[in-house]
Amino acid sequence: MAHALYPGSFDPVTFGHIDVIRRASALFDSITVAVLNNGAKSPLFSVDERVNMLGDVCRDIPNIKVDSFSGLTADYVKSNGYNVIIRGLRAVTDFEYELQMAQTNRKLAPEADTVFLTTSLEYAYLSSTTVKEVAYFGGDISKFVPKEIEKLIFDKYKKK
Ligand code: PNS
Repeated sequence: MAHALYPGSFDPVTFGHIDVIRRASALFDSITVAVLNNGAKSPLFSVDERVNMLGDVCRDIPNIKVDSFSGLTADYVKSNGYNVIIRGLRAVTDFEYELQMAQTNRKLAPEADTVFLTTSLEYAYLSSTTVKEVAYFGGDISKFVPKEIEKLIFDKYKKK
């Protein structure tokens, strides 16, 4: 059985992430999408908000679970028995960092292999950071995130 973990910041979830989640859910027996609780960053959305957003936009995917974790991905992998780590690759610029992370995780948790899914071409340019920047300046983000997420992002910026 292949139990996959898709770790990330998901601040916020984009169509690019959803594309990777959908395709991974068809490949593996189960997939857990896990939000890293990273005290070193100041995210737009809290961990609970990000978990709820992921749960909402992935509600029609049967073999998916959404969770959060703190600390090392490798430790979370070990304590939950995952044998696959999923990461999306958008462009060659992602490669060096992703390769380093995959090699490090393999040393720390040899029981899991990292599997890269190449993001569909239509989302190859997309990142949570650019979505936030466009939204911050009041631009159109409807092609980047689902409707319900779009509303939550604009609500956040109105409050700030
Ligand atoms: O969505 P992101 O920000 O690209 O996800 C990065 C993430 C969360 C997968 C990565 O930063 C991570 O695994 N952090 C946990 C700490 C860790 O395990 N670091 C060592 C990996 S080299």
